[in-house]
Amino acid sequence: MRGVPLHNLVFLMTSPADSRDVFATHEELILVLDFGGQTAQLIARRIRDQSVFCQLVRHDLSLERIRELKPKGLILSGGPASVYDAKSPQVDPRIFDLGIPVLGICYGMHLACQTLGGRVTPGSKREFGRTECRVAAPDPLMKDLPTQSTVWMSHGDHVENALGSFLTLMDTATCSFAAVKHRSKPVYGLQFHPEVTHTEYGGQLLANFVKDICGCHGTWKISSLIEREVATIRARVGKKRVICGLSGGVDSSVVAALLYRAIGSQLSCIFVDNGLLRKGESDKVRDRFQNHFKTDLHVIDAKDRFLNELAGITDPQQKRKIIGRVFIEVFRKEAESIPDAEFLAQGTLYPDVIESGANIDGPAATIKAHHNVGGLPEQLGFELIEPLRDLFKDEVRRMGLELGLTEELVWRHPFPGPGLGVRCLGELTAPRLAKLREADAIVMEELRLAGLYRQIQQAFAVLLPVHSVGVMGDGRTYEEAIAVRAVSTDDFMTADWFPMPHEVLQKISTRIINEVRGVNRVVYDISSKPPSTIEWE
Ligand code: XMP
Repeated sequence: MRGVPLHNLVFLMTSPADSRDVFATHEELILVLDFGGQTAQLIARRIRDQSVFCQLVRHDLSLERIRELKPKGLILSGGPASVYDAKSPQVDPRIFDLGIPVLGICYGMHLACQTLGGRVTPGSKREFGRTECRVAAPDPLMKDLPTQSTVWMSHGDHVENALGSFLTLMDTATCSFAAVKHRSKPVYGLQFHPEVTHTEYGGQLLANFVKDICGCHGTWKISSLIEREVATIRARVGKKRVICGLSGGVDSSVVAALLYRAIGSQLSCIFVDNGLLRKGESDKVRDRFQNHFKTDLHVIDAKDRFLNELAGITDPQQKRKIIGRVFIEVFRKEAESIPDAEFLAQGTLYPDVIESGANIDGPAATIKAHHNVGGLPEQLGFELIEPLRDLFKDEVRRMGLELGLTEELVWRHPFPGPGLGVRCLGELTAPRLAKLREADAIVMEELRLAGLYRQIQQAFAVLLPVHSVGVMGDGRTYEEAIAVRAVSTDDFMTADWFPMPHEVLQKISTRIINEVRGVNRVVYDISSKPPSTIEWE
């Protein structure tokens, strides 16, 4: 973990918000019992694509709790273990007698088959990657699937002797149990992963499971979620005041817009201008939250304070620490000056909650250390409101649009908490930051003009701490260099450099060298992550 994302304001301790029963408020619920598979979160996302609410829960959730939650279906996820290992994670076998449809995926299938009469053994051949799969018998699970399609296999174990209790629905050249169904119970198993995009008809299979087999109608809508959250916030807040920290990013903006809809003038927003923001950022926040949404907006100009504290510092980690500390000090002082404020609203998202293991019925997964974990300290003394803690990023974007935020904001590339502080390599001075800000604005403008902004997940300029020789007119120059970075990525954990069309690179380069004083060279970063990172510091 390289640092704390101050502007995400993500806070992962168990909060009062945890105590509400999020499940109880959704009439159609699918539970994913999580066995630690890398794609378990993806299953939940795919199910939600069907407008059906879906949550990840611990694999050993008690039978009583499952009954109480009344799910329409259960999905047993994949996982790294083998079911025949002595310490392998198990489920309460009585879940197969509840009459609730169950879909086991990979490890989940092995568990279902083993519990219901099959035998699982280490296969002589491991199967990984794309595999051709054939529909062997008709079933509602296979509705609208072609006879032959590609699936994504990733397993070493095989089910044997399953035929006594299970029917084969799909097979491959080497696996006669690619998809199975129990002869008398609503229990299904898939040896492959329907949740990954490499499985051509995976979305269709999951839709068939939740709609045709579990009987869900797809009633979960962002608009009804907004109504429900608005009502919950109003009931909880009463006449008190809520503080919301704005970063200019998507999550905190959606939280603020939602709170504004719920409690209007009882909302106070704090935006700290740390001097490390991009061009026009501060004006955009004012425009959005003072002019459009008429919130009580506190813009704190702390540029000098940050720059003074950062003077002479070049080490990236030290920069992050200082930026983090000063942010908390500035934020705290302002928050304390707002009378009657009892609540602090934050943009914690569902993946943060899952990864922290902080949700009540949540998976017992280990905590993943990533940048987007951290936030304001507990001692600030406010009660937390985290209205996005059940949502994935794409759902937050949809909610933002529904609440009236612009496409431009909702699709904004992520911007790290320490901002330009970690993109201005070497010492942070006002003139160097101004150079970087201008260059970055040119990169953004040209990507938008070329219609490439949405195809790239993150792009920016970096000011390098090197001088190189150039010629301009009749004179020799000795000036700084800008690196342009643009990456394609699904999850920001791995990334490819974006194959930028040459004419776009040419325009960016010409404009930066002509328009930004003190820069005589532009380079394009062609490194993937790993082994490089997305940011340079
Ligand atoms: P790296 O550079 O590690 O970045 O490949 C992955 C993602 O995390 C963002 N990032 C940060 N975000 N505070 C943040 O809030 C940080 O200190 C920080 N460092 C990197 C980066 O922009 C990318 O989206």
